Amino acid sequence: MTKPAQKALKRLLQQAKQAARNSYSPYSKFRVGAALALTNGEVVTGTNVENVSFGLTICAERAALVRAVSQFGPKIRVTAIAVTNRNGWPSPPCGACRQVLAEFALPDALVIFPSVDGLKTMVFSDLFPLGSEMKLK
Ligand code: THU
Repeated sequence: MTKPAQKALKRLLQQAKQAARNSYSPYSKFRVGAALALTNGEVVTGTNVENVSFGLTICAERAALVRAVSQFGPKIRVTAIAVTNRNGWPSPPCGACRQVLAEFALPDALVIFPSVDGLKTMVFSDLFPLGSEMKLK
């Protein structure tokens, strides 16, 4: 990866960390933030919003994605994704978020997140293989 690309990803990660300040997570205390870079040059962030009915909790990644579509419309495409948390724990995007992100993420979008081995950067299509084959014709 080029130095400017690396720098842009780190900046996106900082924006995700900032978004996690707004986390509503009284049940898990896991404060997650996500930041999405879009083809239109915008960055949209999100945080997790929990619910007493646990299954209704919304993850940071999906909060950001829904916000991006709501703000900029259905043509948005995601070029880079940063996920992090304020707990210092690993936080790869969960399976549900990978599925939902696949709807708008370019297959070669870069995803950065803290893993068990420290900060990890992956290509979206490696994180969610066969995702593009699921699109309806
Ligand atoms: N969470 C996220 O925000 N993103 C993920 O990809 C995994 C989990 C949140 C949901 C819940 O509020 C908390 O982390 C514990 O699962």
